[in-house]
Amino acid sequence: MHQDIDHVLFSEEAILDGIEAVAAEVTEAYRGQEWTVVSILKGSCIFASDLVRRIPIPLQMAFVAAHSYGKGTQSGELHVDFLPNGDEIEGCNILLVDDILDTGRTMHALKNELLDRGATQVKTCVFLDKPSRRELHLEPDFRVFEVQNEFVVGYGLDFAGRYRNLPYVGALKPAVFERIEGEEA
Ligand code: IMP
Ligand code: MG
Repeated sequence: MHQDIDHVLFSEEAILDGIEAVAAEVTEAYRGQEWTVVSILKGSCIFASDLVRRIPIPLQMAFVAAHSYGKGTQSGELHVDFLPNGDEIEGCNILLVDDILDTGRTMHALKNELLDRGATQVKTCVFLDKPSRRELHLEPDFRVFEVQNEFVVGYGLDFAGRYRNLPYVGALKPAVFERIEGEEA
């Protein structure tokens, strides 16, 4: 285990088992349809790549990038860096994929943006769901795990851009928040 991690919430094995189950649900939901998996960068790239490889039906992939100006563990105002091309949105059935559904602001804003740009349907799929922090009324159509109100890293999730490459999900040691925030100040 990485020295900055206090405890592991989901091991690599548990994650892949969980994704296998959600991939089966998604496969049945989209069987026989034309559809596109839209992964929200950067956080969901690892989840999306493990998910699509467990879905045996045809699909397209596209990416959207968004970041919030918030520092550390607080999310701030959302900024959309780029969206898929118009022809990858208009008239498409989209499965919007993110690493975590927290306040719901990211998913809510991007879902509306895709619908405004002519998507036929937008469903949501998240790796982690943190319902205790929700500010907007939004439930994921598919989710792998629910988590408590605790800041987690790994498997795509970062703190100050770090720890995305950990193959498991864990909670940071409290001292690490202070150390990194001090380094960045
Ligand atoms: P929302 O817009 O508040 O739902 O937040 C979604 C984004 O906040 C995610 O895509 C993550 O980048 C980030 N986020 C929220 N909670 C956590 C966490 O526990 N660890 C790491 N990133 C998080
Ligand atoms: Mg993030």
